[in-house]
Amino acid sequence: MEEKVAVYPGSFDPITYGHLDIIKRALKIFDKVIVAVAHNYDKKSLFTHTERVEMIQDALKGHPNVTVESFEGLLMEYMKGTNARVVLRGLRATSDFEYEYHMASMNRSLNQEIDTLFMVTGKDYFFVSSRTIKEVASLGGSVEGLVPKNVAQKLREKFAQQKRGQKS
Ligand code: PNS
Repeated sequence: MEEKVAVYPGSFDPITYGHLDIIKRALKIFDKVIVAVAHNYDKKSLFTHTERVEMIQDALKGHPNVTVESFEGLLMEYMKGTNARVVLRGLRATSDFEYEYHMASMNRSLNQEIDTLFMVTGKDYFFVSSRTIKEVASLGGSVEGLVPKNVAQKLREKFAQQKRGQKS
């Protein structure tokens, strides 16, 4: 039987428990999930691409059916090199919908063989985004329980490093 594979693309700057919840639930539907980490040259990210990939790999240890890959350029071009025909995206609230709808529609116009599947974010994480996580962590707030422990540690290190850089 054909292997059911989904690609879960994103910036993951950094990965949160909201993302992990989507991946774990997707593994009940798909045989394999490829987490595709975008090289976003136009987006200023806190973590380097390598750091983002490493944090995801660390957080997903023990999940052999998940692979972490990188892509740059168009997602639909990257998809051609995989055996997946589903793009997986999490939907938190109505505010996500417009952006996601446009992106899915554009992707569909680029490649009609690929479908975008939306999964509603788990109720415990609907308010969690990488952006708000970074904001809270940068101001010294706790993000425990919202991101994996390795990510919380990396956030502390990153902002401590930035503070040291500002002082010198
Ligand atoms: O986590 P994000 O930042 O919401 O992820 C967005 C991402 C990386 C999935 C999206 O920006 C993307 O697919 N970028 C690749 C460029 C592309 O294919 N653009 C066309 C779709 S509008």
